[in-house]
Amino acid sequence: MSYYSRIIGTGKGLPETVMTNKDFESFIDTSDEWIRTRTGISERRIANYEKGETTLSLSRLAALQAIEKAGISPQDLGLIIVGSVTPESVMPTTANSLQRDLGAVNAFSFDLQAACSGFLYGLSIADQYIRSGTIKTALVVGAETLSTLVNWQDRSTCILFGDGAGAAVLTRSEDKTHAILSTRLYSDGTRGDLLKVSHGYAACPPWRADYRPSEHKIQMQGSDIFKLAVRNMVEASNKVLEDNQLTIKDVDFFIFHQANIRIIEMCAKTLNVPLEKTWINVDKYGNTSAATLPICLDEAWRANAIKPGDKVLMATFGGGITWGATLIQL
Ligand code: COA
Repeated sequence: MSYYSRIIGTGKGLPETVMTNKDFESFIDTSDEWIRTRTGISERRIANYEKGETTLSLSRLAALQAIEKAGISPQDLGLIIVGSVTPESVMPTTANSLQRDLGAVNAFSFDLQAACSGFLYGLSIADQYIRSGTIKTALVVGAETLSTLVNWQDRSTCILFGDGAGAAVLTRSEDKTHAILSTRLYSDGTRGDLLKVSHGYAACPPWRADYRPSEHKIQMQGSDIFKLAVRNMVEASNKVLEDNQLTIKDVDFFIFHQANIRIIEMCAKTLNVPLEKTWINVDKYGNTSAATLPICLDEAWRANAIKPGDKVLMATFGGGITWGATLIQL
């Protein structure tokens, strides 16, 4: 008997507070016009710690929606994975705290770090566990509060990111057509310096004399990252198509990592995909890292932009660097 994974529910969780481009003008040398034309971002959501908005609370919102849409109970979950570079705490993991909050007593759970690719990495791991028959149903979350990790004085990065979470429930199916068809994941640690958070962990813990708080923030070589993001997402997309002997024309809908509208447009142009066949929300949320793909998937599904039977290609790119693509049929 062969098993496959079918996505049966999605959800999202976003902070209430909206931060507009104009809001940056009071503390860094920038403008709404610069941010919109260079990135396509108009606003982003920022978690309010005082109101209890954290990586965990956003994960919980997304997870509860996904579980409800899937029509399962938390006890049906055998695995919970949270992809995040801004976990609630290192120990317990965000996934363990989520497991507790959901009452998902039959699930084992862990966090994974693959930067913006965290959701796709998690989806692929859950898919492997389901295909092997080890578990039946899994919850995969991409969740970030990047507002805690940006340098608010660095105008080239702080304007890019936002907070949010997205989630998907996958379950075992014997139908290989309505399933995750294939996934390709990639890493290149030799280019890790292009987008990094270098201090604050084992290489330079906070108690060392040379620790600098400003290095415990996102640092990025923007234009190198831009080019790699386009090239790698295009290559990964072509690979998953090849794996399934399909062409771009066979795919109904595309979801690219939401980092910058120009990156999305260049991926679409290079692949010859009309923008109408993609979901775009980078204007509203900025780059929410591991959360961008599941938030888009959820919004596109609930808006009927995608429907059961559609083939959907998702591609991602993240710091460190990581990237990948997956092709699913809903
Ligand atoms: N407001 C105004 N000016 C800004 C600015 C801001 N927020 N941020 C940077 N600038 C300035 C720079 O200082 C530079 O000025 P200079 O020429 O006097 O040195 C100028 O704008 C051009 O900077 P540059 O970095 O060449 O701009 P760009 O067109 O490459 O756009 C990014 C910058 C960050 C928007 C772009 O490189 C990008 O989106 N990269 C990818 C980011 C990304 O996707 N990261 C996450 C991947 S998961």
